[in-house]
Amino acid sequence: MSGSADLPLDYGREQLLDSGPYAEPLIAGGVRCHGGFDAAGRYRSPRTVHRGPAIRAWQGQLEHTGHSLLGIDPALMPPQYPNVEQARLLLREGVRDPVVRRLTIISIVEGFGAVIRDVRVPDLAAWVVEPIGGTALAHLAGGLFEAHARDEAGYRDEGGHKQMWEAARDLALEKPRIPGDVLLRMMGQGPGRRRERRRLFPHLDEDLEIVLATMAQVLAVEVFAMGAFDWGERLLSDPEVSADPEGARALVSYIRSDESPHVEYLRTALSEVAARQLRTVDGGIVPGRDVVRELLHRTLRGLTRERREEQRDDIRRSVIEAMKAHRDPAGLLERFDALETRWTPPERTGFEPAPADGAG
Ligand SMILES: [Fe+2]
Ligand SMILES: [Fe+2]
Repeated sequence: MSGSADLPLDYGREQLLDSGPYAEPLIAGGVRCHGGFDAAGRYRSPRTVHRGPAIRAWQGQLEHTGHSLLGIDPALMPPQYPNVEQARLLLREGVRDPVVRRLTIISIVEGFGAVIRDVRVPDLAAWVVEPIGGTALAHLAGGLFEAHARDEAGYRDEGGHKQMWEAARDLALEKPRIPGDVLLRMMGQGPGRRRERRRLFPHLDEDLEIVLATMAQVLAVEVFAMGAFDWGERLLSDPEVSADPEGARALVSYIRSDESPHVEYLRTALSEVAARQLRTVDGGIVPGRDVVRELLHRTLRGLTRERREEQRDDIRRSVIEAMKAHRDPAGLLERFDALETRWTPPERTGFEPAPADGAG
């Protein structure tokens, strides 16, 4: 099958994992990483020789059949805490732990991305009413999840985003001391915390619900990560606080360019589900659109409200703790708080459930 722009719609697993040749590999902080440079010295993301055109072809096909590609409103992205100005202040005043902690958390969260390869993908063709041949959906288990996992956590002797963030941190802040409780605290408060996953759609196959919920969650995290990457790039490229502004900036910019296929394949696959109908375990049929929208709505509400508050409060506690060694903790905290970005989440996620019949 081929797509609207005559790009093929079907790809083998090895194709979706293929990086093609590089003129020069990427070495970050002494670690061989994924990706590399072409003969002109331009960075090329890993595993995109076919994955890039494939995603464009699936998106073209979706639009060609009269459906739109869903997207998360960037206005939903909470501001960074500490923001760039606050982080600069901390570094200038010698209070480094909170910034080191934040950068280390980013690298750990990147590494967590590898769990996407462990998501059990059910027989989607059996649960989706309309055909799924030649879609991103049909390629999730056939290379897309694996490529994503490798990009985030590295593969074999090649580092991925986890190692690239560690290298950027160590270049800019000269191998700082890493607070010993980063992982522990994350497990208690942060994205590693296990929340009870309640079934929202008990009439759907459980694996189907889990794969769709995971994609909605990861898409939101990927979109919001852009704010953290922008923060990291601006902070670590500032010569006033960074020991290697150019090296650190370049690394973060490579990571950012690698992220684009993640956001794109996830929103494509979710849009493909939204354009179709799903079978229930009891022989019924539900619109995929309702399921996808509800999952995105819940995820976005959580990330922009309770989760954001919890993370901010936890970070502020660790900032206050780290300031204790400063000569004027109260004065510094006052200056730090004055720089905070005030933010209220938008009223709507854009994925609110459709109103009941006749309600407009
Ligand atoms: Fe990443
Ligand atoms: Fe990613």
